[in-house]
Amino acid sequence: MNTPSAYFEQLYSDSADPWSLDGQWYVQRKYDHTLAALPRRHYRTAFEPGCSVGLLTAALAERCGTLLATDRVAAAAELTAARTRHLPNVRVRQLAIPDEWPEGRFELIVLSELLYYFDDRTLREVLRRTAEALEPGGALVTVHWNHPAPEHHRTGRTLAPVLSAIPGLTLQTDCRDPDFTLHVLERPYGAGPGGRPRG
Ligand SMILES: C[S@@+](CC[C@H](N)C(=O)[O-])C[C@H]1O[C@@H](n2cnc3c(N)ncnc32)[C@H](O)[C@@H]1O
Repeated sequence: MNTPSAYFEQLYSDSADPWSLDGQWYVQRKYDHTLAALPRRHYRTAFEPGCSVGLLTAALAERCGTLLATDRVAAAAELTAARTRHLPNVRVRQLAIPDEWPEGRFELIVLSELLYYFDDRTLREVLRRTAEALEPGGALVTVHWNHPAPEHHRTGRTLAPVLSAIPGLTLQTDCRDPDFTLHVLERPYGAGPGGRPRG
């Protein structure tokens, strides 16, 4: 069973930053790795579901033309909107993936500390929709905590075999930190002449 909505709603009604993301050294270090792992300097369009309090959102915004950040919890979406109010390239919406999925395709999708809340069937559906929503040449970045938590179906390490073999995507980076596992996958350009330079 997926972690229920009520679980997340309760966390945000108890605290404005349920995972104490703001100021944690682990979190800062993981964000720095995530940003450093993005193959391109700039992405025209990006999607970040599960944005929580919007710390990664604000950092990603510097590398993106437009960034859509979403969270299933209204309070989280509001916190992200408040944090990024000065960033006109960021849009924030309340959406519960995979059932609520935004229109369009993206050059970058970031799934950070989100996938262990899904059961196996939903995880497959999230990854299928993610691969479909990436533009050819686009990148998916995933990053997850390695240590067991009671509310998590998997850890970063046990997600790794699934994430390194997402149908339709090619694994580019497999980074194993003691605390987190980070992958970058790219959607290959279709068969045909030419490719696109990075940068
Ligand atoms: C651990 S926080 C992730 C924080 C952030 N991505 C980061 O790396 O700092 C997980 C967030 O995902 C949100 N979430 C959980 N299930 C979701 C879903 N199905 N769709 C969208 N957001 C979801 C939760 O409300 C919570 O804010």
